[in-house]
Amino acid sequence: MKKYLALLLVMVVGCNQSAKKNSENTENITVNDEHSFAKPNEAVVKHLDLNLKVDFEKKQLAGKATLTIENIAKGNNLHLDTRDLNIIAITLDENSITTFEMKPAVAILGQELIVAIKPETQKVNIEYTTSAEGGAVQWLSPAQTAGGKQPFLFTHSEAILARTWIPLQDSPGIRFTYDATIQCPPNLMAVMSAENDTLLHSDGVYHFHMPQPIPSYLMALAVGDLKFHSYDNRSGVFAEPVTLPKAANELVDIPRMIAAAEELYGPYAWGRYDVLILPPSFPFGGMENPRLTFATPTILAGDRSLVALIAHELAHSWSGNLVTNATWNDFWLNEGFTVYFETRIMEKLFGKDYADMLTVLGKGDLDGTIADLGDKNPDTHLYLNLKGRDPDEGVSDIAYEKGRFFLTSIEQTVGRDKWDLFLKKYFTENAFHSMTTEMFLAYLDKELIKSDTALKNNLHIQEWVYSPGLPANFPIVTSAELDKAKAAANDFMKGTSPAKINTQGWTTHHWLQFLRAMPNELTTEQMKSLDAQFQFTESGNSEILCDWLRHCISSNYSAADLTLDQFLMNVGRRKFLRPLYGDLIKTPSGKEKAKAIYARARPGYHSIATTTLDEMLGVPQ
Ligand code: BES
Ligand code: ZN
Repeated sequence: MKKYLALLLVMVVGCNQSAKKNSENTENITVNDEHSFAKPNEAVVKHLDLNLKVDFEKKQLAGKATLTIENIAKGNNLHLDTRDLNIIAITLDENSITTFEMKPAVAILGQELIVAIKPETQKVNIEYTTSAEGGAVQWLSPAQTAGGKQPFLFTHSEAILARTWIPLQDSPGIRFTYDATIQCPPNLMAVMSAENDTLLHSDGVYHFHMPQPIPSYLMALAVGDLKFHSYDNRSGVFAEPVTLPKAANELVDIPRMIAAAEELYGPYAWGRYDVLILPPSFPFGGMENPRLTFATPTILAGDRSLVALIAHELAHSWSGNLVTNATWNDFWLNEGFTVYFETRIMEKLFGKDYADMLTVLGKGDLDGTIADLGDKNPDTHLYLNLKGRDPDEGVSDIAYEKGRFFLTSIEQTVGRDKWDLFLKKYFTENAFHSMTTEMFLAYLDKELIKSDTALKNNLHIQEWVYSPGLPANFPIVTSAELDKAKAAANDFMKGTSPAKINTQGWTTHHWLQFLRAMPNELTTEQMKSLDAQFQFTESGNSEILCDWLRHCISSNYSAADLTLDQFLMNVGRRKFLRPLYGDLIKTPSGKEKAKAIYARARPGYHSIATTTLDEMLGVPQ
């Protein structure tokens, strides 16, 4: 296995791991990426100039992508990724005509675009339009926004959706800088994963510049009625005007989070760090688009209790955006490191008890995922095999939580000081580069394990990375705080009335543990008494409400029907939709109900969510 991987590792330009890296010095280390048609060892994209017009009527982006390439092999072809794009014309350099070939569509991957180039070609100019449905872009009507007056548009490119709105080399091992000009209707604001203006331009024309090289999955654009609130000279939040006051208040800890992250693993490399709060159909909790995290409004609980998500997306500014998973099989290098880092940031801001609550809840999620997948399932390995599959299938708590606990186990084995020094060095020395699992393990060997064979054995690396289930040295995780919530759930199950439960000082995390520690199915009496005492059905906290609604579905508690209906109609975050629809379809009558709600709600969901839900609910494609 190891040898096979080493063979696949095609070094395009020597990778000098110890040299000081900066944004001008970004040799590509390309590995075989099963999810891209690009052949970067022949010709590779180094810079993108994007010029797009946003047409809300046609639901279309139209314009030109100019790719500055390095024709390494001095050959005659440039291989690009596209999906559902309409290519109008392609020229080389200063408009010299060329030919191109669009290959037939391949499931999941889309269409390979082969452009005829010359050995001396530097620029490839592609005129194109996007198609209205599916892919990265979601077009929202005014009714689907918080303000209700203006339309909205946003993209989501991870893992392989950048190719649905830009023709490029859509592989996380390939980095490029970019400039963009976006023309939108005059009263709307455009923002991107780049340097942003924070004021409305009356002509609707916006220019963007991203000086650091990024992988394609970090390309992002949003257009809408947006306003900006500044925290300090390097951070702030964008949101629709009606949402902005709540958002600004909820996320006040951003400057402290950046400071904590820098203290841990070195300077923030991207200039500004801003957050964009999207309309509720955003299919994820957050997305770490560089300089501008995209986030769901469902984290705006009113009490700042769900802001670990911002710490997570911020942490990606190191784990993921600086040191990037080379292929989607290495996805745990992005997410496992980030959950670990997120928890460290939260510990610095709010203390160990708080961080322990996050860790124990994470362990609960991991146990649930392993129970679902089965502890012999190869999808429970950290290093995945996603060949021929949608990389979206790799997005599970294995990458996030098993990944995080692997790092926690190393920390516990070698001690925090040593581990932190290692991580800081890892992020610094590998900044602006991609990383395979094998490369990480080699780096771990070289910089941490050295020749300590006893230490190496203690780490159980092969088990963590290439074996299913949970390894022998899985860390012991406890939270005295959450134990109180668990005990309360036990008392309740044994008959203690909810009024007698001491919930003083409980946080969102206590409530989540309380709900998760009870069986899914409760009696109507139990449901009624809980709801009467704690008003769960009225909860404004999306996480608590989602967990409560799952109990409502399993327990046939019809008093929450309207709330469930409204939640599924308003919220497009897949993390909530998947379990709620999943619980509904467990019974024949629930399945009917799920299908009826889905028929109404589907037009408001992003294609990322409908791709998952269509399959779950058996909607024909
Ligand atoms: N990068 C991910 C989101 C992602 C991963 C989208 C892979 C598509 C494919 C982001 O950083 C993330 O992990 N978001 C989580 C929140 C986090 C706190 C666990 C989410 O959206 O739920
Ligand atoms: Zn993440």
